Order: sequence, then structure tokens, then C-alpha cells
Amino acid sequence: MIHLGKRRSTTTRRSLLGAATVGVGAAVGGVIAVPVAGYALASAGTEATFRPVALGPVEGFTGERRFAPTPAPYVEDPAQPLVSSGLAYVHHTGRPSGDWLAPDAKFVVFSNRCTHVGCPAQATPGGFSCPCHGSQFDTQGARTAGPAVRPLDRFAWEIRADGNLWITQRWSVLIAGGRIHYYPVKSPGQPLTGQLPLASADLLYPAETYRHGQPPQAG
Ligand code: FES
Repeated sequence: MIHLGKRRSTTTRRSLLGAATVGVGAAVGGVIAVPVAGYALASAGTEATFRPVALGPVEGFTGERRFAPTPAPYVEDPAQPLVSSGLAYVHHTGRPSGDWLAPDAKFVVFSNRCTHVGCPAQATPGGFSCPCHGSQFDTQGARTAGPAVRPLDRFAWEIRADGNLWITQRWSVLIAGGRIHYYPVKSPGQPLTGQLPLASADLLYPAETYRHGQPPQAG
């Protein structure tokens, strides 16, 4: 498993991107410009801790037939809703386990942030599609076409006693040999096996957005 060096990032930078990506079907022109502008305007600061957030009652995510993940807007910090918003896609697998890492996990929760430069990917019957530059992802979130450099990020999740589905951490992933390998979140444009692409800079591509514990091992 590969760990790239930790870099500083900020809630503000992450949050500006999140705010830009909320809303299914956002106008393409807007979503191209806003995430990059968000990064560029962001200031340096400290690494953030992901705040667990409820996506809603579990029953709201179990009606899926075939591949049609449910979009779930979330706000990490209720005190700052405009700058801490994001969108998760909840895929109901039809399997029983409440352990998000289990092979028969009930859900897979994807981030909609495209791993190219951060536009909001949209769910399709075959996976996910990014409207900005044409990246395509399959139903595992693995890139199948376009300039994205890695699969879509995923969220750790749990079903809590309040009956809600919660997301509790965000991970970047690689998929190899049918197994999911988890890594601390990388920025859009940053591959997990190399450095930031040419001409990129932390200003545009903050390298890591959350403080993480030990990456989990999928079952
Ligand atoms: S941001 Fe998704 S393909 Fe460019």
C-alpha cells in the first residue's frame, strides 16, 4: 500500500469545492469554472477532520433497482452550510451487511467529485459520467475513459441507532484484482501512484483534505 506524504490543506478549500458541486444536474458551464475558482481563492490553513454527517433514513436508500444510486446532499458543518456542502451517491447493493468494508456490504457510497479537476460526476445506468471533460466511471467508480486519474473517492458509512445512514470518513481508492485499496484523500488530478501532474500546484490541487487514521483493509 502506498502512502504519499501528507500536505496541509484546509476546510475552506475542500468546502468551496463541495459547495460548488452540490446539486444534481448543475449547469455544465458553472461546474467547470467554480471548483477551480474555489481552489484558487482558497487560503492556506490546517488539515481538517471529516465530520460525520447523516445522509438520511436508511429506508430512503434501499429502493434502488439495478444501478441507480441515490444522490444525497450533505452539509458537514451546519454552521457553515454554504462552504461545507457536498454530494454523495449511495448505491444499494441488495446485500445484507452493515459493515461498510465487508464483501457483502449493503451500500457503497461514492463521492461525486470527479478525480480529474473536481467537477460533479453524474450517475448513469452504467456508472458515472463527468460533464466537464468526458471522464467515465463504471459501477465500481473505476475510471473507464477520459482524463480522470483514479476511481471516484468513497465514503466510509455506518447505520446508527437513529436509523440514519451516516458517512464517517472519506477515502481515495484504487481498484486492483477486484479488491479496493484505500488511501487518504487525494486532490482532483492527483494519481495515487505518483505526484501531482505537470503545472499543477497546491493552489489548484490541494493534496489532502482530511486527517485520516490507518487506511482500512477491505474484507
Ligand atoms: S473534471 Fe471530470 S473530466 Fe474533467
